[in-house]
Parts: sequence; structure tokens; C-alpha cells
Amino acid sequence: MFCFSFWWLLAFSGSTFAYIEIPGAYLAAIRQDRADDQSAGEYNYDEQGDDWTGTCQTGVNQTPIDLIFDDSKIVSIPRLRFYNYDQALQTPLVITNNGHTANMVIPLTRDGQRASINGSLLPGDFEAQSVHFHWGSPNSAGSEHAINFERYDVEMHIVHKNKIYDTIGEATLHPDGLAVLGVMFRAVRRQSSQHYGLNKIFNQLPRIEQYKSNATITGRLTVGQLLGNIVTGEFFTYNGSLTTPDCAEAVTWTVFPDVLNYPRRQIAKLWNLKDSRKNPLINNYRSLQDTNGRVVYYRAI
Ligand SMILES: *[C@@H]1O[C@H](CO)[C@@H](O)[C@H](O)[C@H]1NC(C)=O
Ligand SMILES: *[C@@H]1O[C@H](CO)[C@@H](O)[C@H](O)[C@H]1NC(C)=O
Ligand SMILES: *[C@@H]1O[C@H](CO)[C@@H](O)[C@H](O)[C@H]1NC(C)=O
Ligand SMILES: [Zn+2]
Repeated sequence: MFCFSFWWLLAFSGSTFAYIEIPGAYLAAIRQDRADDQSAGEYNYDEQGDDWTGTCQTGVNQTPIDLIFDDSKIVSIPRLRFYNYDQALQTPLVITNNGHTANMVIPLTRDGQRASINGSLLPGDFEAQSVHFHWGSPNSAGSEHAINFERYDVEMHIVHKNKIYDTIGEATLHPDGLAVLGVMFRAVRRQSSQHYGLNKIFNQLPRIEQYKSNATITGRLTVGQLLGNIVTGEFFTYNGSLTTPDCAEAVTWTVFPDVLNYPRRQIAKLWNLKDSRKNPLINNYRSLQDTNGRVVYYRAI
């Protein structure tokens, strides 16, 4: 049977119209990601999540938390291992304003592999699925985690799924389902290094200011480029949850204390996004949660 595996998308790129083909499998992953986001129902950041219900309200292993160096358990932990993080991803990539964040589903690499991680205290091999951001406003910092009582301007989340589960939906039902890497950004006047990969994403933000709009990214991008030049040998790790409804307690968190310096003029593009009500999508971070006696581990180099 003939199977039509490519969809054609009319995309506006630069000053010319161009047809950019989006592979069927990637489009299906984007649709699934959207469905997962919508299955949680309507939610917003009017009360920083304090009005969210269900596990968001009753859970005892919730995220974000304040990561305090002096309260963490400093033990010898294997280093985090990155696989295919240096391999170019299939393009085009699609970045979407889903009303809660700017989100990009991560496709396979050009040679058909998944960027993945293991090591640390991770309970298995975890495959990169998507990346999104949490931010504040021109006068407030918007990271979700705090480190030693300090909130940063932006927090990037790279979401990974345990490869033993088929879908994100299934993974969220298990405590070892997901692994998320959290990277803090500090808004700076000038950039000290290139951040080529992040710029590719941020340069498209003006095209996705409206709810449900999307933009495509072409050219060479690796997942590793998103980490810039931060030190990945030191990190906090603990058991927590998704920071959006349904707040499933399925996440092994890894948050790096090394902060990525990124130009304020780039970060400012996030503040122009709009939510489903056409309100500015700003301060899309959840309030800090109780640790309830959880152990936070710290890996020092
Ligand atoms: C980590 O993942 C890599 C790549 O998938 C795999 O080859 C390796 O065996 C895994 N290591 C462990 C300790 O599971
Ligand atoms: C991107 O937006 C266009 C215009 O609204 C739409 O036709 C297209 O289906 C969207 N693409 C994806 C991958 O969602
Ligand atoms: C998460 O919880 C499991 C089960 O209790 C435990 O074995 C593991 O060490 C915890 N991981 C972290 C990073 O706290
Ligand atoms: Zn997030």
C-alpha cells in the first residue's frame, strides 16, 4: 500500500516563501506532544500554579524546589553521560507557542539515533524528547528552581523519556519515567560566547508570538549546543514531578548550578509571547514546593 509519509508545509522563511517538508513521524510526535499538553486541561500561571488541582495539590514529591547546597547530600555520583548530543538533528525543527511555553519537539539525529543520557543516579537510559523554557518578565526572574535562594532569569528544560516506555504519556505513570535537565540562564548585556544553537531557536521567537503559531528551524543543530558551554560535571539531582498539570511524580531532575550567560535582547523575545487568552505569556514558572524531607544530591567534580 502506498503510504504518504511526508507532509508539506508552507513556511515563510526570510523574504521568500519556501516549501519545507516535515517528515510524517516528526509531525506525529509534534501532534502527540500537543495532545499531551492539552490532556491536562486549561491552566495558566495567574497564581503560579497554586490553583492547580489533583497531584499538583496533593503530591508530596513536587517540583520546583529551592536547591540549597548546604542542605544537599554531597556524595560520589557517576557523571552524567551524553549520547548523540553532538549529532546534527533532522531538520526542519518546529518550535511552537502552546500557550504555556515555547516548545520544540526533538527529532531523531540525521543518522536516525536519539540523543540520550544515562549515568548519574538515573534509573535507566533516557531519550531526549523536547525542550522548552520558563521565564519571568522585564522586571522579574522566572526560573522554576531556585539555587541557594536565588531565582534566575530563564530555566530551560530538556525532557527525556525512559526508553523502556513507549510514550511520554505512559512514562508519566511511573516514578522512573522521565528525566529532565534544567539549565539556568542569566540575562547579560553582551554575549561572551556564540550560543549558535540557542540563537537558532530564539531568532524564531518573533514568529511564534501568537498562541498556537509555529516556526521552522533549518540548518545544523545538535542537542548539545543548547547546553552552551556550561559545566555538566556538577549538578543537583533529586526525585520530583512535572511542573505543569498533572504534575506527575515521574521525574528524576538534574539541575546544573553553572549558569548560561545569554543576551538580554534574546531573552526579551520570550516576554512578547501571548497565551491562549491573548495575554502576555510572562512569569510562566510554578511556585516553590516543599521538599517534604526528600534528599537532594549534589555531584561535585
Ligand atoms: C548508556 O547508554 C548507552 C547508549 O545508549 C549504552 O551504550 C550504555 O550501555 C548505557 N550505559 C549503561 C550503564 O546503561
Ligand atoms: C504551523 O502553523 C501553520 C499555520 O497555522 C499550520 O498550517 C501548520 O499545520 C502548523 N504546523 C505544525 C507542524 O503544527
Ligand atoms: C529516587 O527514588 C528512588 C526510589 O526511592 C531511589 O532509589 C533513587 O535513589 C532516588 N533518586 C534520587 C536522585 O533521589
Ligand atoms: Zn518545564
